[in-house]
This record gives sequence, structure tokens and C-alpha cells, in this order.
Amino acid sequence: MSAPIVFSGIQPTGRKHLGNFIGAIRQYVEGQDRGEPAIFCIVDLHAISVAYDPVELRERLYDTTAILLAAGLDPERCILFRQSDVREHTELTWLLSAVTSHGDLNRMTQFKDKSAKQRELVSAALFFYPVLMASDVLAYRATEVPVGDDQRQHVELMREIARRFNERFGETLIVPEYRIPEVGARIMDLQEPERKMSTTGGTEAGTVLVLDEPGAIRKKFGSAVTDSGREVRRGDDKPGITNLIDIHAVARGIDPAEVEREFEGAGYGDFKPAVAESVIELLGPVRERYAELRPDQAALEAILAGGAEKARAIAAGTLAEVRGRMGFGPA
Ligand code: TRP
Repeated sequence: MSAPIVFSGIQPTGRKHLGNFIGAIRQYVEGQDRGEPAIFCIVDLHAISVAYDPVELRERLYDTTAILLAAGLDPERCILFRQSDVREHTELTWLLSAVTSHGDLNRMTQFKDKSAKQRELVSAALFFYPVLMASDVLAYRATEVPVGDDQRQHVELMREIARRFNERFGETLIVPEYRIPEVGARIMDLQEPERKMSTTGGTEAGTVLVLDEPGAIRKKFGSAVTDSGREVRRGDDKPGITNLIDIHAVARGIDPAEVEREFEGAGYGDFKPAVAESVIELLGPVRERYAELRPDQAALEAILAGGAEKARAIAAGTLAEVRGRMGFGPA
């Protein structure tokens, strides 16, 4: 077994929230700091599968790049690139479509959910989204894919595509593993603590953004929904307080039980501001660094170009082999 290679795709939205930060971004940085080889791809080609604005897309792509760098991704120690810069992804998508079952694509719950929400056009791109996602990972022969639970079905499908390719054309692709997100991945909406924090499905007041100013963060935690009790302890009957305890614990790097002990006897009125301050401490440095990085678009472009070059070097090798196996080009 060769060394693990981690691959993850990140949507190009500038509105990354606390759940994204704790459940994904921070873990990318920790993996990088452990010396894990990893590839991070900002998936602008996926973004066109629903209604979008080209000018906006480019802006949000820079926002996302700057957030990832501000959080600590280091282009010297990982590969960070823009999906559309590496043409191999689109080529491999078509090639893999030959070993992708139409029925499987039809069963994808994300496709069903998203297509139901489209007002004007349900694009073929939305239907093909999982094949492009499979190409992202398989082009690098990545072994691990850390993504949220909502993407598990897509990872299962890419495993199936890799297996079917190997069976049909000979051992070529690596069947990647789904990597279960660690604790802290389930950060809930502060207003509706039964649902996950989300910039698309959640409430505005209950969603803490990575780039929120301290004032906004204090306000959101101040109005967080709790319950009629007064004890700071975790429990199924206390989703709001449980969420706040978990957030405080990850922001401080301590155990939830320790938070319960620390706030024993204290009321919600003391606890909520404390959570806000720990989150401000967690996100503040990222926001400040972002403000330095974001205006220099040329520097961001240079980083993305460097990443694309490294990515292409790997993907081109896989594509050459895939093409050969499939009967393209000279014998
Ligand atoms: N579909 C993923 C999401 O919405 C993003 C993504 C695109 C991805 N390509 C990927 C994730 C490859 C992991 C690997 O979160």
C-alpha cells in the first residue's frame, strides 16, 4: 500500500461558515501540518451546474482561495488549485461516463434535491456532477476523500466507477475511501439547532460566517436559541445548548465535559458570551489574514497557477494511461 493521498473539492463560495471551518478547512490544515500529502481543488466547474453569474463566480473563487490560505493552507506543502485550470478533469469526465450507469446517476439524492429547486433549467451538468466529482479524485489516484455526510453517496459512486473501469479495461484507477469527518463536523444552526449550519438551507442569524466581524458574532451567539432550562449540559432534549457546548469545546480545543464542568452553576447569560469570545478568538486571525491576502489578486493567481501546474503533472499521467487503456491514440 502506498502512502495515502487525500483529495478534497471545495465549492467556490466566499460564504464559508463555522461548520465548514471546523468540519473541513481546519482539518485540511491539520492534515497538512502532519505532513499528509493532500490536494485541494476549488471546484468552479461544479458551480456552473446551477444558475450562476460568471463575474460573481470569479470573485467567489478568489474569496475561497484567500480564505483557505488565511486558514493556513500553505501552497508549498499541499496542492491548491482551480479545477477549470486542469483540463484533464473535463476530459476524464467524458471518458468515465462510459463506465457510469445512467440509473446510478438517476438515484443520486443530491441531483433529486437540487433539480427540484431549479426554477428555469435542470442542466445536464447537474446530472453529470457526480461523474465530474469522480474524475476530480480518480485523476490523482487519491486514496482518501474527506467530505461531509451529504457527499457519501457521490463517493460510493466514484468507487463503483473506478471498479468498473478497472474490470473493463484493466487495473488503472485507485478505488478511494470515504473519510469520515471527525468530531465537530456537526455544527448546528444557532437559530434552528435541529439542522446543520448551512449558507443555503439555514437561517441568516443562526449561521456564523468565517469572515463575520466580532460584533456580528456576538450578536448571533447572543440570540442563539436555547431552552427553558438553565443548566449548561449536553442532552438530546437540549439541542441548542449542546451545540453551543460543542462549539465552545472545539474552539478552545477542550473536551465538552470540561465545558460542562467549567460552567456548572452558571446560567445561559454567562455561557453564551463566553462561546462568542472563543469563536472570535478562533476566527479573528483568519479574518485579518484574509483582509491582507484578498486584495492582491495577482498573488492569488500566481498561487493557483503554481498549484495547477503541480496538479496537471499528476493528472496528465493518469489520463495518458486511461486513454491508452480505452483504445485512443497510436498503439
Ligand atoms: N461535491 C462536493 C461538495 O459539494 C465538492 C467536490 C467536488 C468534491 N469534487 C470533489 C469533494 C472531489 C471531494 C472530492 O462538497
